[in-house]
Amino acid sequence: MAVGTCTRTAGIVGKNFVDGHWSDVATELFESVNPACFDEVLGEFPRTSAEGVDEALAAARRAFPQWRRMSRIARGECFDALAQLIKREIDPLAQLVTRESGKQINESRADVIEGLHMVQYVFSTARMPHGEVVASEVADKESFVLRRPKGVVVAITPWNFPFAIPFWLVGPSLMEGNTAVLKPSEDTPTIGQRIVELFEQAGFPRGVINLVHGDGETGEALVRHPEVDVVCFTGSYAVGSKIKRICAEDYRKMAVCEMGSKSAVIVMDDARMDLAVNASILSAFKTAGQRCVSAGRILVHERVFSEFARRFAEVARRVRFGDPFDPQTFAGPLINAAGVDKTLSYNDLARREGAKVLLDGGRLDSGEFARGYFVGPFVYEIEHAPEIRSIREEVFGPHVALIPFRSVDHAIEIYNDTDYGLSMSVITEDYRKVRAVREGCEFGLGYVNLPCIGAEVQLPFGGVKKSGTGQPSAAALVDGVTHKFAWTVNYAEKIQMAQGLSAEVK
Ligand code: UN1
Repeated sequence: MAVGTCTRTAGIVGKNFVDGHWSDVATELFESVNPACFDEVLGEFPRTSAEGVDEALAAARRAFPQWRRMSRIARGECFDALAQLIKREIDPLAQLVTRESGKQINESRADVIEGLHMVQYVFSTARMPHGEVVASEVADKESFVLRRPKGVVVAITPWNFPFAIPFWLVGPSLMEGNTAVLKPSEDTPTIGQRIVELFEQAGFPRGVINLVHGDGETGEALVRHPEVDVVCFTGSYAVGSKIKRICAEDYRKMAVCEMGSKSAVIVMDDARMDLAVNASILSAFKTAGQRCVSAGRILVHERVFSEFARRFAEVARRVRFGDPFDPQTFAGPLINAAGVDKTLSYNDLARREGAKVLLDGGRLDSGEFARGYFVGPFVYEIEHAPEIRSIREEVFGPHVALIPFRSVDHAIEIYNDTDYGLSMSVITEDYRKVRAVREGCEFGLGYVNLPCIGAEVQLPFGGVKKSGTGQPSAAALVDGVTHKFAWTVNYAEKIQMAQGLSAEVK
């Protein structure tokens, strides 16, 4: 629904999906609303209790042995069917993503396509299991590295890529033979439910994928439950680090977490200015700065700083924040009132910390914006200093600092001066500078002459320091949801040991 026609509507009845059945859960409900028009309710969803979590995990555990024993190619066929279903529905799915997450329609479409690509990628691995043949020092021995699924995976997914990320986490998990329980963000439960309907329609056997709705409390019940082998989570550091601590208490639980960031674009003095401005605007303001890879910092060589700052602010003033259904809009609203408060409080903090403000879009709350969570871009210049919080902490809104640097080493030092390490891009024509930042900066996703957003699913997606647990997701998730084991066979009739160890028994 376009912002201009924002009216009160009632939504769907949210249901959990457990053991192949959709169930109305007699429990407390929460609403999901359109962030561009918070009178529009998309649905009411159950806050799943500990008992509901228990049932979902029991269903996943029961389904595991059979799903795991099924031929890998037969599992893959389910993903092929799923891809066909998604392909038929790209536009309606994109519209749903825009209604529930507020993402601009072109971005929502890209989110759906990214989910589709993950399903296609997973299908493409059906006939190509991951494994290795390795040498043995004994000629009659053959050694292999094989993998087995870990068991039951819990996927706790965020609202900002409500379509793609559930597939990043659930797709490889199921393909490798695990079963799963998905808990989508409480801000985008309708999309989570739609995704699980698609899995059901595609013919995944009952219990292989289960859905529970809820907020942090349901999430915590899932993470603490003894039936869980792996928790895959994408969201904030505060939640991810808690998940990691809980998992550490159980010897077999593994936490695969993608968390916060303070990503950056580095503009060298030889950069093509048009490209630098374009890359920086996309990095800072796509999804209204609410990607985990969004750039909260643009580091610019002092020689080109004033030209860059002038041009960047000019474009930032021009790009339109507004109705996410309008193809001319660059970015829609923030996700909720807490997102608005957080962004505005970081804007104030930056001022107190000495920011020279070039643009303050502020809270947009009149006319067409009155019933949504709209905030315009905030752009400021500031010298780097280690104690400045606004250039170290994640904001998750259209808030960006332009920071001058003197040399490549100085840029690397500033880049690394946050607790995070997710994404980085460098804009330059000089291959030596490219290598220096690649080697010097701490990150999980690196780009040259591109924005620091826009990863593709066939790459590992993850970060270092407080951005991740060292186990990336998307294509690389296979390492998090399988156990690698060694398998060695002797083809001789006698035993011969490696390392010169005697096999003789006297
Ligand atoms: C996120 O930032 O939360 O790399 C996910 C990108 C997208 C995914 C972003 N493919 O920008």
